[in-house]
Amino acid sequence: MSAAERDARLVIRGGIPLRGSIPAAGSKNGALYLVAAALLSADPVTLRNVPEVADIREMGRLLEALGATVTIDGPTVHVEAVTLTETFAPADLVASTRASFLVMGPLLARLGEAGCAPPGGDAIGVRPLDVHLAGFRALGAAVSREGANWVARAARLQGARLFLDYPSVLGTVNVIFAAALAQGTTTIVNAAAEPEVAMAADMLNAMGARISGQGTGIVTVEGVARLHGCEFEVIPDRIEAGTYLLAGAATRGSVEVTGARADHLDGLLSKLAEAGARVDVTERSVCVAASEPLAPIQVQAVPYPGFATDLHAPMAAALTQATGVSIIHERVYDNRLLYVGELRAMGARLTTGGQSVIIEGPARLTGTPVRALDIRAGAAVVIGGLCAEGETTIRDVGHIDRGYARLVERLSALGADIERLVP
Ligand code: EPU
Repeated sequence: MSAAERDARLVIRGGIPLRGSIPAAGSKNGALYLVAAALLSADPVTLRNVPEVADIREMGRLLEALGATVTIDGPTVHVEAVTLTETFAPADLVASTRASFLVMGPLLARLGEAGCAPPGGDAIGVRPLDVHLAGFRALGAAVSREGANWVARAARLQGARLFLDYPSVLGTVNVIFAAALAQGTTTIVNAAAEPEVAMAADMLNAMGARISGQGTGIVTVEGVARLHGCEFEVIPDRIEAGTYLLAGAATRGSVEVTGARADHLDGLLSKLAEAGARVDVTERSVCVAASEPLAPIQVQAVPYPGFATDLHAPMAAALTQATGVSIIHERVYDNRLLYVGELRAMGARLTTGGQSVIIEGPARLTGTPVRALDIRAGAAVVIGGLCAEGETTIRDVGHIDRGYARLVERLSALGADIERLVP
């Protein structure tokens, strides 16, 4: 990223109800899993509907450092991992994206050795790797710490029945990757059921894997000797779609996201309906409209199919406009509340206790300089800015860019007054 891009700012002149329709983008997190999955085969893999965000480019650079060829052609990504030349991920390439640890499972399964430093990502709490590492150990790998790296080695992984202490999303995906080429059957109990995890398993099946139960808490993987290439389309991004739907409700507008999967958005849509928004689901789109102020609600952010932790901060921003006291309890991360100080600076009345936030609305927000402290905290200040009177200037836009491709274009299409200033 250039210095000028680093200093880029978003400027929002708020108070305009968002109205209109935008197409859903491909899932950012899910696409990262699929790019990593391509390492499992020596054949070409083509991914479609990949969002054009910074994290995908970072992941591509990481695969290239391991010896793969990655071509990003708009929303289409080609990966060829014919021969992998490295089993250790370079430390500088795992610093910004948490998903980079997903190269461990494929490298271990395919080459018998994998090394990776604890990856970076958002500072949203303690983000341990014990689920990943215990999973590799259960499959027979020797796992140790060598300098900065976690290293796993196994001549051939052996299928096993294993229990995850926590249904970690990336942990589940990493264990599925490793188990796909193991000898025998692996049963993962307390697996993450997120749609993106299920999609990663579906892609492996398209490559010749034998996985069942994906999308539930028990996933079974019958190991196969090799995986072949495939073409695969990324599912719509439920978090990105949810963010725009929340922006529509918060500004008392009407936002339709075509191609969004309502069955992946139950947690959000039921809460929005409870708050008095009108939710219309058709086969081709999800639409949320609010002509009256929202009613206050209580929300618990928990693993899927519960309300998504990644929509906690955007939901909090929307609830600053509800009439009455709302509460959000964060049950996934222990530092999801970075957005609180920023929304307070805009005039929101938020009180925290542990990982819970009490939101007193309706708050009259005023445009002011704020920062995007992580991807979703960034989405929260964008929603705050859209509701605020006057001009909101958002710094550290790079965080937002990691999860929301073409944000300015998409919000402008919905009628927002927003621009990006690059000095
Ligand atoms: N956890 C453990 N042990 C582990 C791993 C995780 O205890 O080995 C705990 C964490 O401490 C945390 C909880 O599990 O409390 C959730 O972490 P999880 O591993 O499920 O999250 P992740 O896989 O690291 C992915 C997404 C996150 C999203 C979470 C939960 C990617 C790259 N990241 O992270 O997305 O919040 O799942 O759905 O896919 C975002 O997009 O803004 C984002 C942070």
